[in-house]
Parts: sequence; C-alpha cells; structure tokens
Amino acid sequence: MAITPLVMGNWKMNGRAQSLAEFLQTVVTVEGAEAALCPPAVYLAQAASSGLSIGAQDVSAEKGGARTGELSAAMLKDIGCDYAIVGHSERREYHAESNELVAAKAAAAVAEGLVPVFCVGETLAQREAGQVEQVIAEQLAPLLKLPQVMAAAVVAYEPVWAIGTGKTASSSDAQQVHAFIRTQYAAVDAKIAAALRILYGGSVKPDNAMELCAMPDINGALVGGASLEAASFNQIIQAAAASSAV
Ligand code: 13P
Repeated sequence: MAITPLVMGNWKMNGRAQSLAEFLQTVVTVEGAEAALCPPAVYLAQAASSGLSIGAQDVSAEKGGARTGELSAAMLKDIGCDYAIVGHSERREYHAESNELVAAKAAAAVAEGLVPVFCVGETLAQREAGQVEQVIAEQLAPLLKLPQVMAAAVVAYEPVWAIGTGKTASSSDAQQVHAFIRTQYAAVDAKIAAALRILYGGSVKPDNAMELCAMPDINGALVGGASLEAASFNQIIQAAAASSAV
C-alpha cells in the first residue's frame, strides 16, 4: 500500500510571530507529501490559517480541570490542530514523562480526533549496550494495548543521540528500527501495521532527507532545526515527495 509521506516541522521553543508570518509566506506544499508544522502553542492559531496541517508539540492526558499550564486535546482541536506530538524525548527527559503517560496522552488526542505522533527512540548509551529493540518495544508497549489509538497514530523514531547533534542515523540503521516498529505493530494487527506512517527524526536536513525517505519503512520526517527556515523545510518536503514517487 502506498503511504503518503508526512514531513512535520517541530519548532520546539523557537520562533516568534514575525518569523512564523515570514515562514508561512515562503513555505510551499507539494503533491505527493503532506507538510505539517508544530509551532509553539501560542502560535498555533496563526499557523492554522495557512494551508499546512498543524500539530501541537504536546497534549494533556486529562480532559480538563486543575492542570495549570496544560492544554487539552479538545482545546487543540478547537484551534485547528490535526496532530499532537506525544512523548518527544525532550518531554520524556525534562518532564519525566513515562511510557504509560505518553500512551495516555495519545489516547486523549485520539478521543478528540487528533492524530498523535508517538515518539520513540534510544539514547546513545542504550544503543551502545545493544538495547535498541528492547527500549523501543518498552516505549511502544502501552500504545499497543490500545487498538483504536495505535490505529490512528503516527509513530516517530527519533534516536536521542541524533537530535540537534548533526549526527543522523544511517539510512540502513534507521530502516532497521523502522522495520522493527512495523513488526511490533504487525504482531497486534497486520492491517494497521501496513498502513502505519513511521517518521524518522534526528538531524534531518535537505541533503539526507531523500536517502532516508527512500527507505521502505520510512514514511516521512520529523524535523527540528531544519524546519525553522522555510527554504530548507521546502527542500525536505520536496525530497520526501520525490522519494515516494520512485
Ligand atoms: P533536529 O532535526 O534539530 O535534530 O530535531 C529533531 C527533533 O527532535 C524533531 O522533533
């Protein structure tokens, strides 16, 4: 089954209203790839007026109430979000998010019609200890207990050691982990596994996007630094579209 690649820009805590306005004027959408942007939450409404798909960088697992500073899935839906990233390694590290909490956030997103982008990935120490598959399996486990949530989700493989470091997983190393993720899905439901979009993230740039996206189980990219400039983001979108066309 042909899967349309998704190229998602994660601005993290970067950008301002002015730079977003300039970005939105310059970014182009192309046939053959879906482009999505996840700006800081305060700029989601501004980004929602563009032709891009829009995602939040996080979502609360709770529906509402006494959770100062959090945003519910229903609120994000109200403002025009299509996606919500959950379990980014920076949230796992700096906000101590557990695998169970990340799955609960994904479930909260799906309950309101948002597509969760469920992030997994190992640290360098875990890779060097030969624990990649074990770590990924543990991160996915609570998601795989929720059939409706896993069916709706996108999974993003972001090796922690490749984020913001300029080090990218080789396309064959990334492909190996992506294939493992699809196998984990297939053990629960082969049909859902076949349709699953699995994004690669970690120092994706215009000059490596094509090779990564050409791998059979890499269905797009989750892009940090290179998504801040429309010119490089555009090139990555074009590379993803071209790689899926071959
Ligand atoms: P970089 O592309 O800056 O390495 O960031 C990747 C990332 O964390 C996207 O979510």
